Amino acid sequence: MTQLAKFASLRGKRVFITGGGTGIGEAMVISFAEQGAKVAFVDIARDASLELVRRVKEAGYPEPVFRVCDITDIPALQATMAEMVGIIGDFDILVNNAANDQRHETKDVTVDYWNERIAINQRPMFFTCQAVFEGMKEKGAGSIINVGSISWQVKNAGYPVYATSKAATHGLTRGLAREFGAHGIRVNTVTPGWVMTQRQIDLWLDEAGEQDIKRNQCLPTKLMPQHIASMILFLAADDGAMCTAQEFIVDGGWV
Ligand SMILES: NC(=O)c1ccc[n+]([C@@H]2O[C@H](COP(=O)([O-])OP(=O)(O)OC[C@H]3O[C@@H](n4cnc5c(N)ncnc54)[C@H](O)[C@@H]3O)[C@@H](O)[C@H]2O)c1
Repeated sequence: MTQLAKFASLRGKRVFITGGGTGIGEAMVISFAEQGAKVAFVDIARDASLELVRRVKEAGYPEPVFRVCDITDIPALQATMAEMVGIIGDFDILVNNAANDQRHETKDVTVDYWNERIAINQRPMFFTCQAVFEGMKEKGAGSIINVGSISWQVKNAGYPVYATSKAATHGLTRGLAREFGAHGIRVNTVTPGWVMTQRQIDLWLDEAGEQDIKRNQCLPTKLMPQHIASMILFLAADDGAMCTAQEFIVDGGWV
């Protein structure tokens, strides 16, 4: 487990995270648990998620609540969130993290493929926000963090529908911030650069990628999931009290 700043306000807070089983989501599950928060997360990666729950519990932190849930199935997502609220109580913090950056070429995109990409990368974010709204409204407080991507901002080719949905992340953040803000609920976007998750290393990090990082980042250190989780902790905590409708980029200064 890593050494992080302690955010006193996160102790006992109820957090819901999509895609918490591996990658950046895994770092978030660990980080929130280390803060003493009650974490609930969904993922389709059953084994990795169960193993994560075991590790967090064994380390002596509050045991996360995990359910297998495919977030493209909105009724299932809604039912799972409601079940989790029944177990740990209304959420104080929501992190919309799960996504899939599968590569595709413009010429190959069919209507079905378009819908499928949007169904994983964009649609669930709205419905999770909708699901947490009433509970947060009653508390008069809450923090929602939508995870974006620099991919479309730096004009990466190779996944135009992913880029479209990731650009929409910040539209959702700004589109909800005023309505939700009236009830003390903050909504922000955290935008990662190229983060060295195991999946990124296995699939995409080659010599050319190493050179890209050296050339494009101002900081030579590789970006790790923990760097993203740290920003998310700050925004989730009372320390980020007056931050809303903003985008926070964590990319090592990528050009
Ligand atoms: N890794 C990067 O370099 C990078 C860069 C920019 C933005 N991001 C963003 O950060 C977030 C996390 O990225 P990551 O690299 O950790 O992703 P990842 O693919 O490594 O992990 C995503 C998690 O979501 C889960 N998941 C996928 N589809 C799901 C579904 N239908 N239902 C439920 N769970 C599902 C996966 O099993 C996995 O555990 C994403 O929003 C991504 O767009 C990542």
